[in-house]
Amino acid sequence: MAARTPAREAAAAKIKDISSAVASSSSSKAGRSSLNEEGLVLSALRMLATFDNAKNALFALVVYRYSTRLLRHLKVYGVSESLFQLYRLISARAFALLLKTPAARRKVKRELDSAIAEVEAKIVPRPKHLEIHRQLPQLGKENDWIRGEMAKLQTMEAGVDAKIVDAEWQNRDGQMVWKGGKVSGAVYHGGDDLSELLADSIKQFLVSNPLHPDVFPGVRKMEAEIVSMVLRMYNAPASAVGATSSGGTESILLSCLAMREWARATKGITEPELIIGVSAHAAFDKAGTYFGIKVHHIPVDPITRKVNVGRVARAINRNTIGLVGSAPNFPDGIIDDIPNLAKLAKRHNILLHVDCCLGSFLVPFLDKAGFDTEPFDFRLDGVTSISCDTHKYGFGPKGLSTILYRSAELRRFQYYVKTDWPGGVYATPTLSGSRPGSLIAGTWAAMMKLGESGYVQACRDIVGAAKEIQTRIERETPELFVLGKPIVSVIAFGSAAQNVSIYDVGDHMSKKGWHMNGLGGDVPAIHIAVTRLTIPVVDEFVADLKQAVAKARSVFSGDKGSMATLYGLGSGVSATAIVGQLATRFIDTLYLI
Ligand SMILES: Cc1ncc(COP(=O)(O)O)c(C=O)c1O
Repeated sequence: MAARTPAREAAAAKIKDISSAVASSSSSKAGRSSLNEEGLVLSALRMLATFDNAKNALFALVVYRYSTRLLRHLKVYGVSESLFQLYRLISARAFALLLKTPAARRKVKRELDSAIAEVEAKIVPRPKHLEIHRQLPQLGKENDWIRGEMAKLQTMEAGVDAKIVDAEWQNRDGQMVWKGGKVSGAVYHGGDDLSELLADSIKQFLVSNPLHPDVFPGVRKMEAEIVSMVLRMYNAPASAVGATSSGGTESILLSCLAMREWARATKGITEPELIIGVSAHAAFDKAGTYFGIKVHHIPVDPITRKVNVGRVARAINRNTIGLVGSAPNFPDGIIDDIPNLAKLAKRHNILLHVDCCLGSFLVPFLDKAGFDTEPFDFRLDGVTSISCDTHKYGFGPKGLSTILYRSAELRRFQYYVKTDWPGGVYATPTLSGSRPGSLIAGTWAAMMKLGESGYVQACRDIVGAAKEIQTRIERETPELFVLGKPIVSVIAFGSAAQNVSIYDVGDHMSKKGWHMNGLGGDVPAIHIAVTRLTIPVVDEFVADLKQAVAKARSVFSGDKGSMATLYGLGSGVSATAIVGQLATRFIDTLYLI
């Protein structure tokens, strides 16, 4: 109950006076202008609006808002997990304060400087045969000179120690690392013939810009056709539409923006919340940060590795704008239970985005390639948007993805329109303004070249190779176990043996030239995302993996290796803070000359 105060009592007395004045005035002077009555009501309200009352009302509002937020949080995470989160939050703040003390700051800086020096040596090689260009050359260079420099720059893709490149660069095939198939994911190469075709198509549309469809009608046509073809691949209804974007991250950002705007327009939601699995891509968190959406992270089932749908259901509240499912997710390559997520979304009248950025041109063809599949696309009623990257298993040039919506109304929520700009009417479908029409041309060429039969064959080969890796890990390396039951191209595995650290295995694989992904989730693991380039080196991979396991077993680092430092220790409060700083400094190194 609110406290009685002199100010409150004075206000109450005044209101009493005013109401009796109102009563007497209404009986004796009936018919007087309503303006006077309004004036009296306004004065009464003014009396009520004392500083004290306003303070009490504000206090009640704040208590209400925080208690509903707290209750919602408890509903999503439960009491013990919420307490743990609180503990982590307090520890993180305390650690941040500790880091501000001069002694700690000096120590952390020393450690970071030495860690970053190692990173810099690897990321920023400075071979002597390459000139450094800090500013524009006074006079433009000849074409031949530029072509020569390009050839030298390509030798850096050998990716080995700068000193070795320096000594032997002339004899090396510059792209030997990625062409050798030892990189997990990252390079979605469709073969040399296709690359040439893509380069020709890109060249033909080099200066084109879809921001000006009247100037480049051919590019507009190709873009619309790319979207239409991907919609058909994902069994979209006739009402469905889409757009292209610069990559999976932008497609995801757009889907979240559209969800937020849809929820604001149709439900008046001003404090939007999105529910994703912990295995969903970090781009959803990026969207949360960029667009002011609170993101709830739901654990995955420890056995199936699919997001726990029961926990998703518990997390839904009246601020929920949508759910997310992955098909498959990046860390362990598992397809979430999309049918049940779709049912939930439908029941609560919220949106469901399915992230097929990675599944792209594999998942839609699993069935036709003769593999088991799971429902994931627009055939499920509750699926309202899908992101699919053409620059992954679509084998198009890097820098293009698609975002698909069940209806044109939904797509409009990602548009930006400004009608009163002095520069004219500014209207764009995605985050960018100008866009590279050349990449649309390259993508269109790749899709027309491969056609459905080409993609079905690619799916057969790539998923076939992934299955072979999975089977051989399960049969031939008893020290390892595969996470969940992957049905696409990513195979994640952890250590089943106490004396083998999976991160040591990853470090030994690095020494053999493999670029594996370390995973920092609930189970220490590493993964390989199989691409076309991995297919010829499956045997080499398995042989190297067995040796790496044997090595890791004989020399247990106690999780002090470089992969363990980045991934294994990444979940503790102090490690999170340090890894965060390290990651920031890593980004800085990207721009070093
Ligand atoms: C499942 C998933 N979603 C989204 C993305 C983001 O794609 P991009 O790197 O093109 O932004 C990735 C990238 O690997 C992914 O694996």
